[in-house]
Amino acid sequence: MKEKLLEKAFEAMGNAYAPYSNYHVGSAFLLNDGTIVIGANIENASFGATNCAERSAVYAAYSQGYRQNDIQAVAIVTDGKILAGPCGICRQVLSELIPGDCPIYLSNKKESKDTTINELMPFQFGKKDLDEL
Ligand code: THU
Repeated sequence: MKEKLLEKAFEAMGNAYAPYSNYHVGSAFLLNDGTIVIGANIENASFGATNCAERSAVYAAYSQGYRQNDIQAVAIVTDGKILAGPCGICRQVLSELIPGDCPIYLSNKKESKDTTINELMPFQFGKKDLDEL
């Protein structure tokens, strides 16, 4: 399933709209019911409006009604020269929206790494902090 999910993420990468950076990212989320939801990075001339691939995918999954415990595995791939991890904003978003121990498969075809959001982001700020108020 890992290979299939990476393949779907590379397919999604083909849908990236990245005329400014020319850096293409794709993501695929495997859900417990077997559904795969994909996302790509979508840039904008107002650069701050750009959406990363993994956020496109996780927002699509949530928009379809899926929630944290429905998410089984995540793949994030790029066409970069070196292996990349998710950006800081995506780490923050994923820390709230996917399980902390959910496998995250990273790849740029040449290199790959398996990780989790708990590994990528220690001492997370989240809902629990606001619940304490
Ligand atoms: N990008 C992602 O899609 N995910 C990340 O985690 C890192 C950055 C995109 C955003 C932008 O379109 C391009 O990569 C260059 O930053």
